[in-house]
Formats: sequence, structure tokens, C-alpha cells
Amino acid sequence: MTGELSPIDKAKFVAAKKACDYVESGMRVGLGSGSTAAWLVKCLGELVREDGLKIKGVPTSTRTAALAREVGIEVISLDEAKWLDVTIDGADEYDANLNLIKGGGGSLLQEKIVATASDQMVVIADIGKQVETLGAFPLPIEVIPFGWQTTKALVEESLISMDVLGRNSTLRLNGDTPFVTDEGNFILDLHLNRIANGRQLSLVLNQMPGVVENGLFIDICDAVVIGYGDGKVEVRDINAGTVEETRLDFVENDNLFMDLTD
Ligand code: A5P
Repeated sequence: MTGELSPIDKAKFVAAKKACDYVESGMRVGLGSGSTAAWLVKCLGELVREDGLKIKGVPTSTRTAALAREVGIEVISLDEAKWLDVTIDGADEYDANLNLIKGGGGSLLQEKIVATASDQMVVIADIGKQVETLGAFPLPIEVIPFGWQTTKALVEESLISMDVLGRNSTLRLNGDTPFVTDEGNFILDLHLNRIANGRQLSLVLNQMPGVVENGLFIDICDAVVIGYGDGKVEVRDINAGTVEETRLDFVENDNLFMDLTD
């Protein structure tokens, strides 16, 4: 079954599998969104069903909530959990300081709220997400639909004084209509190419009245688990300053590898 997986899916799978080491019975766990996080949810579901792991999961999107329930994880809201032991999520880019761009799947708002309400945030990713400088991946920002074109113009104007290499932004679409987030908002993708000062940019963007949140995660992530297509996994912990390498064997498992809905 695993033979059908592409190297990139294998990399995402081993990163997700390894990240399960951060989860223990009794924990309240933030469950990220996107294709790598979907592997995590499946791996955790298997531990719940087969090894008796007892966790409560707080999903970061309706899609993750549905998957978590499907695989047997007890789902609670963030307000019920109040605070989380760990959040494990994917990312679109991470740099050497573990600052991130997230929101490629449109769930950045819930993802940021949940990650910020956690003792620890762990990112799971394949090595292709690693960058020297953030910004090649378009930076998503969530904006309220009211006056979004005015907000877009104001955002582009504010970028003039920022150290970035592009100022164009596009409204994210779902077919012919605007993509709508779980919170009923729109997403603008900022094509900046290079973000020299993510902290400053994040503050400036969040000062705009129509901007709800941006996809820069600055000083939120504690560790990254990087998967490779050959089963190698690297764990970088920014607080401990450690880098550990290990290798995971692929074990054929129909429950995990069937029906991957990305
Ligand atoms: C979802 O909104 C995003 O923040 C995802 O975490 C990010 O896009 C990574 O997704 P993949 O794991 O699918 O690459």
C-alpha cells in the first residue's frame, strides 16, 4: 500500500507519525489542517483505536473536525479545552528560527488561535517547506468581506514601506466565487517574494481594520518535525537547541493508507 505513496506523501507521513511522540494520554491536542496534518489525525486515530490513547482534540477547521471524528478522536471546542498541551500542524514555509507562513489551506485564523493557546506548537513538514527567507509562498491574510477591495488597496499601499519584493495581492477564489473561510471571511494572497522582517509586517497588517489575521506565525512554533521520502525524520527543537535524526520504517496499514482525503 505504501508503495503507491509518492515520496512527498511518505515524507509527510513519517513526519506526522514521529510527531505522535509529543502526544500522551490525558492531553488536549490542537489538530492542524492540511494534507500533512491529515496524516497526523489518522496516526493519532489509530493510537486511540488500537493502543487506548486517550486525548481530546481541538480541530482547526471543519474538515479536520470531520476527519478527527471519523478516525475516533474525541473532539472538543477550544472554549471547552481552554488551554492545550500541544498543537501539531503543517506549514507552507518555515525558516531557521521556526517562523512560519501558514494558511495555504485557508484555515490560518483558527490555526493561529489554537497554536497560541498551546504550551507547545509542533510543525510537521517535508523538507521542501524549509526556506532561508519567508515569502516565496504567497502570504495569506484573512479579511472581512465588507469592503474587501478597499482593504486590499490599503494593504498594498502599506507594503510600500515594508521590506518586501512584491506588493501584488489576489483574492483567493473557489472556482468563480471568493473562497470563504470557516469564519465566513475572504483570503487575500500577498505575493511578496521575500519578507525581510516578518514581525514588523505581521504587526502592520493586523493594524488594518479589515484584516482579521495574517498567516505569519512569529515565535509561535517550538519544534519542527521534518520528514523525508526515504523515511528519515529530523526533529529540530528551537528552545532546547537540539536536532535529532531518526528513521521510521513504513508498515503497511490499510486503515491509514486507504481513503486519504488530503
Ligand atoms: C492550512 O490553512 C495551512 O496552514 C496548512 O497547515 C498548510 O497549508 C500546510 O498544508 P499542507 O500540509 O497540505 O502542505
